[in-house]
Amino acid sequence: MAFDIDKYTETSVSVAWKDLDFDEFETNPLPPETLATLRYMCDVEYHTVCYLRDLLVTPSHKEADVSAFMTMWNREEFWHGEALAAVLAKHGVTVDFDQLKATRLKLGWKDRLDPIKQSLLGNIVGKDFIAVHMIWGAANEWSAVAAYNRLAELQQHPVLAELLRRIAKQEARHVAFYATQARERLAKSKKAQVIARFALKNAWGPVGSSIMEPDDVTHVMGHLFAGEEGLREIRKLDEHISRMPGLDGLTIVETSMKKYGVAA
Ligand SMILES: [Fe+2]
Ligand SMILES: [Fe+2]
Repeated sequence: MAFDIDKYTETSVSVAWKDLDFDEFETNPLPPETLATLRYMCDVEYHTVCYLRDLLVTPSHKEADVSAFMTMWNREEFWHGEALAAVLAKHGVTVDFDQLKATRLKLGWKDRLDPIKQSLLGNIVGKDFIAVHMIWGAANEWSAVAAYNRLAELQQHPVLAELLRRIAKQEARHVAFYATQARERLAKSKKAQVIARFALKNAWGPVGSSIMEPDDVTHVMGHLFAGEEGLREIRKLDEHISRMPGLDGLTIVETSMKKYGVAA
């Protein structure tokens, strides 16, 4: 499946939510556990800018398609954060991006990959680095689609579910980009496959785990992916990843969830 980057950049828009009746939250508010999960998701979306910043200094930035995508992608994720912040605001929970930026937006993807990079003695370079970046992104975006759809199903709130499904649709476009890129790039390089395998196996964690407290990760992932249905979703994610060239047999999602006490 090809990914049309021009079409993507032309049609990239903020997720629509102004047409949704947020006053519904006044008469039909969300329970604390869902608010905690939304808060986590909002933080993660707002942190996207850190990933972008880190990646602007990597070889990925020199690839025109990748940079074009990442520019639009970064905006879409920011708008996801804004939409979720608006839901939280309706429940008296304030998440202010500027404040977050000043105090906590410092970690990102690079922090996780740095030790790996060092252990490979600078072997992650050029095209191979981009391949690893793309499969990493695909794993995260697949997780995002699953998380939003799952919360929509679990909560069954008419307004929230609609918003989450709209966000999930945009996440699915992100999947399409990263997965297409990853598939092509991994197929071309055995070395990239080996490095990607190593990096994912040793450094990947549930989305948000590099920036949130371990207890929060456990709580949110448990909320979303506990039980048999959750385990099925987790295994679907691993299936997507392990179908990539050279990545067969990987079970990074299930393994990392177990580390956080989920899917145990
Ligand atoms: Fe997002
Ligand atoms: Fe995304």
